[in-house]
Amino acid sequence: MSVLRDQTVEDLLAALHARSDEQAELKRDLYYQRTRGAQAPTPDEIKAFRSDKLVALDRDKGEFCYQLCRANDARRVVEVGSSYGVSTLYLAAAVRDNVRASGGNGVVIGTEYEPAKARAAVANFKQAGLSPFIDLREGDLRETLKRIDGPVDLVLVDIWIAMARPALELVTPHLKSGAIVICDNTEQYRSEYADYLAFINANGFRTMTLPFKGGLEFSVRCQR
Ligand SMILES: C[S@@+](CC[C@H](N)C(=O)[O-])C[C@H]1O[C@@H](n2cnc3c(N)ncnc32)[C@H](O)[C@@H]1O
Repeated sequence: MSVLRDQTVEDLLAALHARSDEQAELKRDLYYQRTRGAQAPTPDEIKAFRSDKLVALDRDKGEFCYQLCRANDARRVVEVGSSYGVSTLYLAAAVRDNVRASGGNGVVIGTEYEPAKARAAVANFKQAGLSPFIDLREGDLRETLKRIDGPVDLVLVDIWIAMARPALELVTPHLKSGAIVICDNTEQYRSEYADYLAFINANGFRTMTLPFKGGLEFSVRCQR
């Protein structure tokens, strides 16, 4: 059993991760078809391919996010990029367990602009029994994240890279002091993340890249 200690959620996550792993193989085939003599995929082909795929956060990163939310008693979490809700399940399980441990309430604000993915995510949340802890906002995050009520404890950025900085710009004014921002694959796509990391470095975060697969950016919002 993982850190979640919830068999229902873990069974669902196992099935979703397995599906995401299978799709990652298909993605490798598409992206590397050039090496087999075919044309590289066009941006439109990549967009079409990704439109119904899970592209889920890796298991160990999801568990790490669970642990971080438990460590700082997170009550308001923002997830930038929800897809079918894999990472949302880790985050919402942590918020639920924080509420169970010391009362009060909490929420994970998720974001997804593909309607079919959002519908699938909502079904997954229901199956996991975690719907009461999730506010999934369907639509473009540049609109859906304009309204955030109250201080944010943790942000997970797991989105197409061009959207990482615009999302963080919207959420940063709501971060409490000591809030954590996690961002996936910052080592693997260092140059693509230059804009995002420039924002991090110019806006009072202390940051380091953790040695998870592809690199996981761990930034803490500090006043000084
Ligand atoms: C890497 S996936 C997220 C995976 C998810 N965190 C998980 O673990 O299952 C990124 C998701 O962000 C969505 N997305 C991309 N651009 C978006 C935007 N501007 N607004 C909202 N969602 C967006 C994509 O449709 C995709 O499902």
